[in-house]
Amino acid sequence: MEGYKTFLAFLVSSLLLGFLGVIFTLVWVLHWQGGLGWDGGAAEFNWHPVLVTAGLIFIQGIAIIVYRLPWTWNCSKLLMKCIHAGLHLTALIFAIVALVAVFDFHNAKNIPNLYSLHSWIGLTVVILYGLQLVLGVSIYLLPFAPNSLRVALLPVHVYSGLLIFVTVIATAFMGITEKLIFSLKDPPYSKMPPEGIFVNTFGLIILVFGGLVVWMVTNPAWKRPPDHGMKSISPNVAASEECSTVTECSNTDKSDVEFNNETARKRALKGDEAGQRSTM
Ligand code: HEM
Ligand code: HEM
Repeated sequence: MEGYKTFLAFLVSSLLLGFLGVIFTLVWVLHWQGGLGWDGGAAEFNWHPVLVTAGLIFIQGIAIIVYRLPWTWNCSKLLMKCIHAGLHLTALIFAIVALVAVFDFHNAKNIPNLYSLHSWIGLTVVILYGLQLVLGVSIYLLPFAPNSLRVALLPVHVYSGLLIFVTVIATAFMGITEKLIFSLKDPPYSKMPPEGIFVNTFGLIILVFGGLVVWMVTNPAWKRPPDHGMKSISPNVAASEECSTVTECSNTDKSDVEFNNETARKRALKGDEAGQRSTM
C-alpha cells in the first residue's frame, strides 16, 4: 500500500480521537449533567449525546473505513460487507435508542417535539441512514441485484454515505451548542465556564475525527485494490471479492467465493472492464 505509514498514523489518530470523543460525552454527562438513567428526567436525556456519539459518530466512522484496512484485503468481500453492514446496523440501533431517550424526556417534561433545526436535520439524517442501510443490504449483500445496478449505484452509495456521516457531525455541533446554551446559566456559556470549554473541546475532537475518516475514505491511494492477492480467471478480470485461498481468511464464505467465481467467469466472457466488480 502506498503511504502505509501515513495511513496507519491516520487510522490510529482517528481511533484514539473517536474513543476519546465517547469518553468526553460520558465525563460530560456523568460529571456535569447528573448521570445516566431511564426515568423521564435529565438522566434519560443524557443517553442522547452518549449514544449518538458512540453509534452514529464513532461506530459509523469505523464502518466507513473498514474496506480501507490493508490487512483485510485478503479477506472475502462478502465478509467485509457483513462487517460494514453489521457495524452500520449497530450504529442505527444506538441512534434509535438515542432518539427514544430524547423524545421520551420531552414528552415526560411536556417539552414540544421537533421545533429546532437540530431536531429536523437529526431526525431526517437517522431516517436516511436507515434507508441507506436497507438499500445497501438489498443491493450489495443479497445476491439479487444485477451487476450493472451495483456498479451504477456505488458512487451514489458512497456519496450519500459520506453526506450522512458529515451531516451527523454537523447535527451534533448544533445539539451541543443548544444544550450548553440551555443548561449553562450560572455562570452562563458566554463566561466560558469549565463545562463549556470541556464540551467545546469535545466538538473539536469529533470534528477532527470526521476529517480524518473522510480523508482516509476519499484518498484513492488507500482504496481496497481490485486484485490484491486474488486469483483472476482472465488478466482483464479483477475478481477482488474472492479470497486467494479459502483458508486465508478464516471467515471466508464459500458460497461467496463460488458466487464470485461465477460472476467473474461471466464478466470474462462479456469482456467487462477490469476492476469494476471489485467495488461491489
Ligand atoms: C433533540 C437528533 C446529537 C442535544 C433532538 C431531536 C432529534 C435529535 C431528532 C428531537 C427530539 C424531540 O423533538 O423530541 C440528534 C442526532 C444527533 C444528535 C441525529 C446526531 C449527532 C446531539 C448531541 C447533543 C444533542 C451531541 C448534545 C447534547 C439535543 C438537545 C435536544 C435534542 C438539547 C432537545 C432540543 C431540540 O429538540 O432541539 N436531537 N441529536 N443532540 N438534541 Fe439531538
Ligand atoms: C462502500 C457508507 C451500508 C456495501 C461505502 C463507502 C461508504 C459507505 C462511505 C465508501 C467506502 C470506501 O470507499 O472505502 C455506507 C453507509 C451505510 C452503508 C453510511 C449504512 C447506513 C452498506 C450496506 C452494504 C454496503 C448495508 C451491504 C453490504 C458497500 C460496498 C461498498 C461500500 C460494497 C464498496 C466498498 C469498496 O469500494 O471496496 N459505504 N454504507 N454498504 N458499501 Fe456501504
